[in-house]
Amino acid sequence: MCGIIGYVGTRSPRSLILDGLGRLEYRGYDSAGLALLVGDDNGGRRFATTRTVGNLERLLEAAGADDGAHAALGLGHTRWATHGRVTQENAHPHASADERVVVVMNGIIENYQRLRSELQGQGVVFRSETDAEVLPHLIARHYQGDLAEAVREVLPLLGGHFAFVVAHADEPERLVAARRECPLVVGVGEGEHFVASAIPAFLRETREVMTLEDDEVVSVTSHGMQIFDAHGGRSERAPHTVEWDADSAEKSGYPTFMLKEIHEQPSALWDTLGDRLRPDGSIELDGLGLDEAALARVERIHIVACGTSYHAGLVGRYLIEDWARVPVNVEVASEYRYRTCLAGPGDLVLGVTQSGETADTLAAMRVARERGAHVVALTNVMGSQATRDADGVLYTRAGLEIGVAATKTHTAQVMALALLALTLGRLKWAITEAGALDLADELRRLPEVLETYLASSAPDDVGAVARRYHDRPFFLYLGRHVGVPVCFEGALKLKEISYIPTEAYPAGEMKHGPIALLEEGSPVVVVATDGHVFDKVISNIQEVRARGARVIAVATEGNQEIAGHADEVLWAPRVPALLSPLTAVVPLQLFAYEVAQALGLNVDQPRNLAKTVTVE
Ligand code: F6R
Repeated sequence: MCGIIGYVGTRSPRSLILDGLGRLEYRGYDSAGLALLVGDDNGGRRFATTRTVGNLERLLEAAGADDGAHAALGLGHTRWATHGRVTQENAHPHASADERVVVVMNGIIENYQRLRSELQGQGVVFRSETDAEVLPHLIARHYQGDLAEAVREVLPLLGGHFAFVVAHADEPERLVAARRECPLVVGVGEGEHFVASAIPAFLRETREVMTLEDDEVVSVTSHGMQIFDAHGGRSERAPHTVEWDADSAEKSGYPTFMLKEIHEQPSALWDTLGDRLRPDGSIELDGLGLDEAALARVERIHIVACGTSYHAGLVGRYLIEDWARVPVNVEVASEYRYRTCLAGPGDLVLGVTQSGETADTLAAMRVARERGAHVVALTNVMGSQATRDADGVLYTRAGLEIGVAATKTHTAQVMALALLALTLGRLKWAITEAGALDLADELRRLPEVLETYLASSAPDDVGAVARRYHDRPFFLYLGRHVGVPVCFEGALKLKEISYIPTEAYPAGEMKHGPIALLEEGSPVVVVATDGHVFDKVISNIQEVRARGARVIAVATEGNQEIAGHADEVLWAPRVPALLSPLTAVVPLQLFAYEVAQALGLNVDQPRNLAKTVTVE
C-alpha cells in the first residue's frame, strides 16, 4: 500500500514531492518522509531527510520552509504500516549505513528476515524494524559506481512483491526504480522525470506516462530514461498519454473527496455506458477477449473481488442470473484463492477491482487462469496489474477515485456488470429483444435519474436523519434480494468511515440470530425498495419494530405505504427493481458520510485503511 514518489529535473523537487505525496496520501497516511539531495559543507552532496509520524500535515510542518540549498533530486513516501510499528524510525526513506543510498518502498520483501540476519552477520546495524531497510544496505554493498547495475544485482535476491525508488549521493542526477507485482509508473516531463506509485502523484505536471514490467529496472535523469530487463538488456518503450484531467485529483469546491465522488456518480455511470450502449439499444463490449460466439458459450461465471467490489459482484449475480440465466458464483478473493479451484475452460472469471492492484483479487484471477478459465479484469485503472494478468478487460470509466471509501467506482462496476449481463442475455436468447431494449433504455436513463436525485433536497434530508442517529453505538442493516448487497455496502460504508459497528443481513436470516441484538431504540436500516419482496421486507420491519427497534427505511420515491411502517425514510429514485442497487446505495453512502461528518471524522482518510491493498 504506501505511496512512493521520486523526482529528478531542473525544478526544485521539494514542493513537487510534497505535492505528489498529498495526492498519494489515499494509499497510506500513518507516517511520511522526504529526502532531498542537497549540497554539503565540503562541496559534495548529502541527503537531507525528514520523517514524521502522522499524516502529511506533520511532515509539512517538520520539513519547514526550503532550506535554501538547491536539491538535485528527491524522494518521498507516505506509509501504511505492514512491517514495524508506526514510528519515526520505521518511516521511509531508509538509508544505508553511510547514508549515501536512500530508498522509498511500497510492498513487502517476504524474505527480509533472512536478508537482515545475513547483513547483520556482516556487521550492518539496522535502525528500523521494517523489511524495506534491507534495500539500502544491500544496494550499498553491490554499488560499484552504477546504481542501476547495483539494483539489477539485488533484485533476484528479493522475495515478495514491491516497488521502490532509490538514489545515491554520488549520482546526483539519477533515480533508479524497480517493481515486482506492485504499481510503479514513470511520468515524463520537459527536462524532468517522476517515478511514483500512481499517476495522480504527477498528473498536474505531466500526462505522459510509462509503465514498467515486473523485474525491470528503470534509470531516469532530467533528460533521459533507460529501462533494463532482468539480464541487463535494454528495453525501449514509448510513453502513453493518460486522459484523466488534473482536476480529478482536486476537491473542486467540495469539502471532501468522498462527497465529490458521490456527486460524480452520474458522470461515472454515463462514461461507463459511453459508446458501448448504442442509440439503437445494442451493446458493444470490446476488450473482453471473447467474440460473440465464445461469449454465448459461457456456461458458468465466477466473480472474485474484495470489499466494495465484492458487493458490486453480488449485485452482478442477480443481473446475470436473471437476464442471461447463467449461474454465477461470487466469492471474496482472499478465500477463493485458497480453495480448490474448480473453474476451467468454458468458464468466465471476472476479477472486479477498481484499482486493479488488490493482491488477493490478482491472486484469485491467477489461480483461475492457471486452470484454463477465461479471466476478465473489471477495473477502473488503465494499465493496472489486473489488466496485464487477464485475458480481457472491461473498464469502468469512473475517473480517479481518491476517497478511501469507494463510491462512484462501485456504481460504475454495477453498471459495467449490467452491460455484460444484458449482452449475455441477448446472446443466449434468455431475454426478448423488446425486454432488452427496455432495459437498455433504463440503463441510459440512470445517470440522469441520479443527477436529479443528487441535485434535489433528498441528500439534505439524509443528512438530517444522520444527525439524529449519529450517536448510536450500533446499526443493523437488513434487506432482501438485490437489497442484500445494498445493505452489505451501506453497512461497510458506515463502519469504515464512522467506526460504528454494523451488521448487515438478509432480512430472512434475521430471526436466526441477529434479532437478539435488538433492544429499545436500536436503529435498523432496512432496504425496502419496491419489488417482489417488498411485502416480505415489511413483515421483517414489523418484527424488528415489535422489539422496540427504530426503522430507517430506504424506499422508492412515491411509495405510499412505507411511511406507516418506518420511523425515518431515505428516498431512492424509482427505477426497475433489479437496477435499484444503483440508486438505493446512494442514500446509504450519504447516510454514512453524514454520520461520520457529525462525528467530526476524516472521511477521506479513515483509520487503519488504505485505498489500494497490495498486500495479502
Ligand atoms: C471500501 C473499499 C474497499 C475496496 C477493496 C477492494 O470502501 O473501497 O473495500 O473495495 O479494498 O479494492 P479494489 O476494488 O481496488 O480491488
